[in-house]
Amino acid sequence: MTPLPFDLDRVLGESFALREQAEGYARAYLETVHHRPVAPAPEALAALEGFREALPTSGVAPPAVLEQLHRLGSPATTAQGGGRFFGMVNGGALPITLAARLLADSWDQNGAVAAVAPPIAALETVVEGWLQQLFGLPNTVAASFLSGSSLALVTGLAAGRWRLLERQGYDVNAKGLWGAPSLRVVAGAHLHAAALKALALLGFGRDQIEWVPVDDQGRLRPEALPTLDDRTLLLLQAGNVNSGAFDPFRPVVAEARAAGAWVHVDGAFGLWAAAAPQLAGLTAGHEQAHSWSVDAHKTLNVPYDSGIALCADPEALFAALGAEGAYLPQGTAGVLGLNRDGLRYGPEMSRRGRVVELWAALKSLGTEGVAQLVSQLHERARQLRDALTEAGFPGLNDVVFNQVLVDVGPDADAFAAALRESGEAWAGASRWFDQPVLRLSVCSWVTSEEDIARTVRAMVRCRETRA
Ligand SMILES: Cc1ncc(COP(=O)(O)O)c(C=O)c1O
Repeated sequence: MTPLPFDLDRVLGESFALREQAEGYARAYLETVHHRPVAPAPEALAALEGFREALPTSGVAPPAVLEQLHRLGSPATTAQGGGRFFGMVNGGALPITLAARLLADSWDQNGAVAAVAPPIAALETVVEGWLQQLFGLPNTVAASFLSGSSLALVTGLAAGRWRLLERQGYDVNAKGLWGAPSLRVVAGAHLHAAALKALALLGFGRDQIEWVPVDDQGRLRPEALPTLDDRTLLLLQAGNVNSGAFDPFRPVVAEARAAGAWVHVDGAFGLWAAAAPQLAGLTAGHEQAHSWSVDAHKTLNVPYDSGIALCADPEALFAALGAEGAYLPQGTAGVLGLNRDGLRYGPEMSRRGRVVELWAALKSLGTEGVAQLVSQLHERARQLRDALTEAGFPGLNDVVFNQVLVDVGPDADAFAAALRESGEAWAGASRWFDQPVLRLSVCSWVTSEEDIARTVRAMVRCRETRA
């Protein structure tokens, strides 16, 4: 395609035709995603070889590009938008979020700079306040809109590292980490891999971590905490990635605060419990922490690329991650959001306006809808656990939130593979205190009671076939 000379009518015509074509494919996809096998068929995976081709010299007409993407890509996806995907902690996507994203993608704003993306900066300001309200956080809280919890962990911990060192009279941004006063990291033995990655990026090695033993649900045991001090980063979890259990925030955070430690809560999927009155007891006391990481692309069913870091110490956040540049336009106060440059809130200097889908989800659900969504996931998880117990699969965790662990025998990997091959449901194997388990995470707004019943029937068939 030769884009020049620029002819507006022709370009708009092509653009709209491509959109219509893509929209047709998207509709066809969404129509089938609830009925087709959850895992892609082996032939669909084999067909991905069709993408293996040399970079074309003269380019291919855009309609043919789209056609290939749909023909090869769509059948090879996993039906995460359906009701029987229980892998990792992966939510679906509320329809309003996909539609809002379509519009925001057409805006194509650099969401990190208020002067060039005023609606994004305005929505970030609004959603920051809404999240503070939903999670019951201090009103000083600043929100960074990031790709996911992995980067939100980096962000919260970077703010904590900066603050603890600043209190030691050391500016880590100016002087660097080598030669800095030493800091400690304290965490429960079931820390998520994303936290380990974030710590490594920030200069903290795995062997430096002071591990705290956990109880039979994977909760950090408060009586086993080492003595904390004002050089300590303490990591807590709202939602153990296997059992869904929550650390006992109230006693632990109080002790940490009294010692001058910085507390970060990894609430990737579990922090949303704080937004559902029936479940809010699980997070009681979390609001006294200093920073939090949470995903909207998990429990809230916003499409991917929606993590948030929340920090009750904005000065530390801006000091750790802020950026200046003579060429960068400065935000102006007075109009909603125009003094809010996202690039001061997180590691990225250019990014999409990812807050749009999050805003759309929250606005369309309201506080009641969010509470209902979160409670429904919990309710379905309990139904799943009960039905599996009745079917002879012993449950291995207290289902306090949306995670279900069951005993499927010694070869959980093979069982999980057989379940996926059945096309009926998708779940992963894991290990729970060295026992192989099947791990089911109920994370989609679409999952119905019938989906639960169908999944259990499929698991019973897998067991029979394998016997
Ligand atoms: C507890 C916990 N923390 C962090 C992460 C990382 O989140 P993300 O994949 O959004 O980067 C996950 C992902 O499953 C998680 O469950």
